[in-house]
Amino acid sequence: MKKKISLIGAGMIGGTLAHLISIKELADVVLFDVAEGLAKGKALDIAQSTSISGSNINLTGTNNYEDTKNSDVIIITAGIPRKPGMSRDDLLETNLKIIKQVAEGIKKTSPNAFVICITNPLDVIVMALQKYSGLPTNMVVGMAGILDSSRFKYFLSRELQVPVKNIESLVLGGHGDTMVPMPNQTKINGKSLNQVIKKEKLDPIIERTRKGGAEIGKLLQKASAFYAPAASGIEMAESYIKDLKKTLPCAAYLSGEYGVNNIYAGVPVVIGNNGIEKIVELSLSKEEKVNFNLSIKAVRELFEVAVKIDKDLGS
Ligand code: APR
Repeated sequence: MKKKISLIGAGMIGGTLAHLISIKELADVVLFDVAEGLAKGKALDIAQSTSISGSNINLTGTNNYEDTKNSDVIIITAGIPRKPGMSRDDLLETNLKIIKQVAEGIKKTSPNAFVICITNPLDVIVMALQKYSGLPTNMVVGMAGILDSSRFKYFLSRELQVPVKNIESLVLGGHGDTMVPMPNQTKINGKSLNQVIKKEKLDPIIERTRKGGAEIGKLLQKASAFYAPAASGIEMAESYIKDLKKTLPCAAYLSGEYGVNNIYAGVPVVIGNNGIEKIVELSLSKEEKVNFNLSIKAVRELFEVAVKIDKDLGS
């Protein structure tokens, strides 16, 4: 039977997700947005493109959660994006309110779905979503690490003139300025990174990766990045639907792994048809460990701010 993916938020990322799902013929799509015409209009536009692509899927737009009922996967981008000069954290208050509404909508209609959150500030919003919805932690995951890693790999590929597919790498920690690109876990054509690049060249690449979203927002002015975030979300949805059991860096709930408890943060996870099937624990160098812990501290501090905004989260 065909799967059903509901996209909560039909803005720039939501529309791109729908288009990618259609091209890949991954599932039927329901686009949901509080702006009803936006969801219906994008669904109709993409549906008309299936006459050309030949994709045999249904696409519909709605502002009613009933239409998203019994989804296999839900991908959430509802919220406001960053404007130039804003940090992801500046979005907290507005997006927290939006995510509370979304959590109520999905827990009633799709309690068994695999839920991927993209709304920023990512780690805190995905944690709030899990708490508000009460869905199991293995079924609620945040998209960040794939995007951050893809930016890191892209910049390395340009610097080293190596095709991106020959680069393996990971970015862990929170999806903010404290994210942790992992040079020691990076391989270029199988060689370790320090064999092929000098520190003076690597440091600016790490910095550009950390600021990758802001760079694009400054160029676009009226939107934040959407193509690469959407492609990253699709990789997670596909691994779940097709039970590919890919190991992907995602924001996952940690209960003891990496010495961290009761917080969402970016770590490698295995995604298959049971959701997050495993959290992969890498052995980190001393420096990586220090940076990872700093990143966790930043996520925790922002979560405390979220609890001040809505004390329901503290319970
Ligand atoms: N329920 C559903 N949709 C909502 C709600 C809500 N309560 N509130 C807002 N939306 C919708 C908006 O109407 C808009 O169409 O969410 C959509 C967000 O789309 P964009 O503004 O185009 O933002 P986008 O670039 O897609 O980013 C969405 O993902 O990466 C993050 O930082 C980014 O938090 C932002 C989110």
